[in-house]
Amino acid sequence: MSKGLISLLVFIGLVGAGTLFYVFPTASNQGYAPEQPIPFSHKLHAGQMKIDCKYCHVGVDKSPHASIPSVNVCMNCHKVVKTDSLYIQKLTAHYNAGKPVEWIRIHELPDHAHFNHKRHVTKGVKCETCHGPIQEMDRVYQYSPLTMGWCLECHRGQTTPDYVRKLVDPENKHPDDIAPISCATCHY
Ligand code: HEC
Ligand code: HEC
Ligand code: HEC
Ligand code: HEC
Ligand code: HEC
Repeated sequence: MSKGLISLLVFIGLVGAGTLFYVFPTASNQGYAPEQPIPFSHKLHAGQMKIDCKYCHVGVDKSPHASIPSVNVCMNCHKVVKTDSLYIQKLTAHYNAGKPVEWIRIHELPDHAHFNHKRHVTKGVKCETCHGPIQEMDRVYQYSPLTMGWCLECHRGQTTPDYVRKLVDPENKHPDDIAPISCATCHY
């Protein structure tokens, strides 16, 4: 047997004893950072200006989906702020025409997998844990892999940040299982 084949078999052996997610390897869009129709900066608005995430992403703590703000929200400020900017003029044109800005979606799970913001946010899991340092991003990129393995590693307690562990299981009674892992939790 070749060395390569032996190490492959050893690898499969290790993985076989290991976890489910190796069985379902999938491509990940980690790092995806499309150029947006208007260069909206989180670094400026959420970082420097410290506007609360929920001011724009209304409902992220009340529903499965985090919303993307409508132009109205932007115009609360940009009716008067920086109106000499070409980007703000483009934004204003959308507002006047009643046409939404066509933001390009970055994070997107396949239809068969269901994520739920409310269930995580109300348990105290911070946006940054999954979305990274959004406050420092001029252009948003996909920080986490969003693969099934990534979800399960946290639910199983393997990669769970300590602060999440303390919130969900303060007495550390279930160190290996901090959230449900049955298939129907996410596939239904
Ligand atoms: C002033 C409004 C505003 C604030 C405040 C804001 N966002 Fe956003 N956010 C947007 C807009 C507009 C988009 C869509 C354009 C883009 O991707 O940059 C967006 C996109 C995103 C996306 C990517 C959505 C996708 O398509 O997958 C994430 C994740 C996100 N925001 C998280 C946050 C977090 C976390 C905070 C707080 C730290 C925050 N945002 C604060 C307006 C805002
Ligand atoms: C709370 C007020 C506020 C809200 C809400 C807000 N902005 Fe801003 N925005 C600002 C301020 C202040 C600046 C910086 C102006 C400056 O550079 O002097 C700015 C700058 C910008 C710029 C850069 C303009 C340039 O040419 O330098 C863009 C683009 C922009 N905002 C888009 C948006 C979009 C899109 C939304 C809605 C999703 C939004 N803003 C919501 C206050 C706001
Ligand atoms: C446990 C991980 C996790 C946490 C915590 C989290 N998100 Fe997300 N976020 C995701 C995933 C996964 C998606 C893709 C969902 C999909 O495609 O159905 C997503 C998508 C988004 C989107 C795109 C719109 C949507 O709903 O698909 C926005 C905006 C967003 N998140 C903002 C936030 C904000 C703001 C917070 C904090 C208040 C937050 N997220 C907390 C994992 C998380
Ligand atoms: C950083 C850790 C972490 C990550 C990453 C994470 N989750 Fe969770 N998840 C949790 C916690 C904590 C809970 C709440 C458990 C509880 O209610 O006690 C939870 C709960 C859930 C629930 C509700 C379960 C129920 O029936 O009560 C669903 C559905 C879910 N997660 C799906 C996902 C999916 C899909 C992903 C990946 C895209 C994901 N999660 C990634 C920590 C995480
Ligand atoms: C905590 C959430 C969660 C749980 C629990 C979960 N999955 Fe998944 N699963 C996902 C996510 C998110 C995806 C999509 C991302 C990916 O393909 O990695 C996915 C993708 C898949 C895929 C498609 C893989 C591909 O190649 O496209 C299959 C098959 C699958 N899961 C089966 C299962 C089975 C069987 C179970 C139970 C033993 C299970 N899942 C439990 C979140 C979960």
